[in-house]
Amino acid sequence: MSADLPDSLRPDTLAVHTGIHRSEANEMSEGMFLTQGYAYDSAEQARDAFAGEIDIYMYSRYANPTVTAFQERLAAIEGAESCFATSTGMSAVFVSLGSILGQGDRLVAAKALFGSTLQTFANFFEKWGIEIDYVDGNDPADWERALATPAKAVFIESPTNPMQDVLDIPRIAELSHAAGALLIVDNVFATAIGQKPLELGADAVVYSATKHIDGQGRVLGGAILGSADYVDGPVKLMVRNMGATISPFNAWVLLKGLETLAVRVRHQAASALELATWLDDHPKVRIARYPLHPSHPQHELAVSQMSLGGTLVTLDLDLGPGVDVAGPEAQAAAFRFMNALRLFTCSNNLGDAKSISTHPATTTHNKMSPEGRAEVGISETTVRLSIGLEDVEDLRADLERALAQV
Ligand SMILES: Cc1ncc(COP(=O)(O)O)c(C=O)c1O
Repeated sequence: MSADLPDSLRPDTLAVHTGIHRSEANEMSEGMFLTQGYAYDSAEQARDAFAGEIDIYMYSRYANPTVTAFQERLAAIEGAESCFATSTGMSAVFVSLGSILGQGDRLVAAKALFGSTLQTFANFFEKWGIEIDYVDGNDPADWERALATPAKAVFIESPTNPMQDVLDIPRIAELSHAAGALLIVDNVFATAIGQKPLELGADAVVYSATKHIDGQGRVLGGAILGSADYVDGPVKLMVRNMGATISPFNAWVLLKGLETLAVRVRHQAASALELATWLDDHPKVRIARYPLHPSHPQHELAVSQMSLGGTLVTLDLDLGPGVDVAGPEAQAAAFRFMNALRLFTCSNNLGDAKSISTHPATTTHNKMSPEGRAEVGISETTVRLSIGLEDVEDLRADLERALAQV
């Protein structure tokens, strides 16, 4: 926390004023410390720093002033005791679990997760002898079954990517703790502005900062937030030694991104709700999923744990009764729709100022088996829309024009 700020500031104020450590130049905008390391005043000082007797910057794989500023600011917004930044969202996911799991440990995870997270679990954690129990995230009985046996960690996304299932964080936290497990929530879809998993009972939160925190599609980054014991213990030990460190340049971009995160996300979420409401009634759309829309299957739960519904709308096109939603005709219709969009760019990021359309079955979730995709509800007709900062009426007109191609 920066010196001499008044007590009890609210997150919007903290987002602008936390993490400021001005240099002798007294700069207004935060300085960028683009350096691999730091000079010691003497050999004795270097010795004492390596011995852990004094706490100074030593090497940027360990710590860097710009990265510290980003960590302090994000921790203040999230209301977390501690934050550690990582090179990407995936390194945050990996380290959040890899730093505490060992051979023979049990990990319980919801089935519906980002594609690379599932790949990491299947190709590495399982190979290293970690037992993984996958749960149907919206089935309370399945959570009770899985967490009747002790576990080391529980990992979920809520809302999930891309189908926007909303999971009961307080209940899953209760069951996790009874099983002796740490509950880690990937909060990318909700953002730090729309949902506070730590207040809902989770132990740790991970972010791909590449998404809304940057918000303008410039850099990759990630972060892990939680108690000082966990973040400054195993998490820091692992990142510092395995080297999944964020670059100071990226941390600076993300630090500045945090200043505008709330206004961007509130604007994008308002447009997303408006478009979801309109799309859900559109004859060419079977369903438009948005957590805070009344038609969402877990709408009440979403209202109880989210203050904003996020910036994404996941729709399924309505191709009529004769069309196989897993077949080539469905894929061709989804591609016609996406290729006709002019303001939604076909890409696989989300949370950007520019609106984005993604076909999860053939991109972000293409490594899942067709059965696995069907199980979580992803079909060839599914299109994920990330709503940007454009005028909502221009976005609606673009979608209307493209839906006419379906
Ligand atoms: C929910 C979720 N978690 C993690 C990640 C990984 O983030 P990164 O691409 O920054 O590694 C993504 C990226 O799309 C994501 O959507």
